[in-house]
Amino acid sequence: MDVHTAIRTRRDMEGFAPDTPPREVIERIIEAATWAPNHRLTEPWRFAVLAGAGRDAMADGVQTWLESTDATEGAIRSARNKVLRAPIILIVAQVSRPEDPVRDLEDYAACMCAIENLLLEAHAEGLAVHFSTDRTMLGDGPKAYLGLQPEDRLVAYLNIGYPKPDAEPKVATRQPAVVRWDWS
Ligand SMILES: Cc1cc2nc3c(=O)[nH]c(=O)nc-3n(C[C@H](O)[C@H](O)[C@H](O)COP(=O)(O)O)c2cc1C
Repeated sequence: MDVHTAIRTRRDMEGFAPDTPPREVIERIIEAATWAPNHRLTEPWRFAVLAGAGRDAMADGVQTWLESTDATEGAIRSARNKVLRAPIILIVAQVSRPEDPVRDLEDYAACMCAIENLLLEAHAEGLAVHFSTDRTMLGDGPKAYLGLQPEDRLVAYLNIGYPKPDAEPKVATRQPAVVRWDWS
């Protein structure tokens, strides 16, 4: 698939078939992520891949952390479901530099660039990906389980699998965003 097509046909997907994609495909999409632009070549991204039963401890960790907050039962159920909804959850994190706020911001942006690369590569591989974020990303428990430091940042939860045959992508439209062109 060429890049023009990949950019325009990739859509966030929420319905997954039960099969787990092969490990080599996941390795390829992570490798694609690492070609993202990153100022000073800090390579701030870290990836955690949890597949099958490997997702359970993360789901438990997220639940335990939420139980220590004011989260409702519904919110806890929904957070568990976020971890378990696809055969694989790939978590993207940023090694954070709180002592250098400019670098920290640049590194967060680089992680988002890496995620877009990953999403496009996954699409070209025929995978479905659901991107999500929530308050559990702020919890020290989930970070510790992934081997991250408290100051590090969880950037995205990416549920990954093959699309369910009848899965419909979310409707996505785009508005022109250029507010001014002075082109002489
Ligand atoms: C930073 C970020 C956070 C997101 N968090 C969520 C989320 O928590 N739940 C969700 O359903 N989608 C989430 N999304 C996915 C967007 O809803 C999705 O990209 C948007 O609907 C546009 O659809 P498209 O990706 O198919 O173009 C997130 C996307 C980004 C970039």
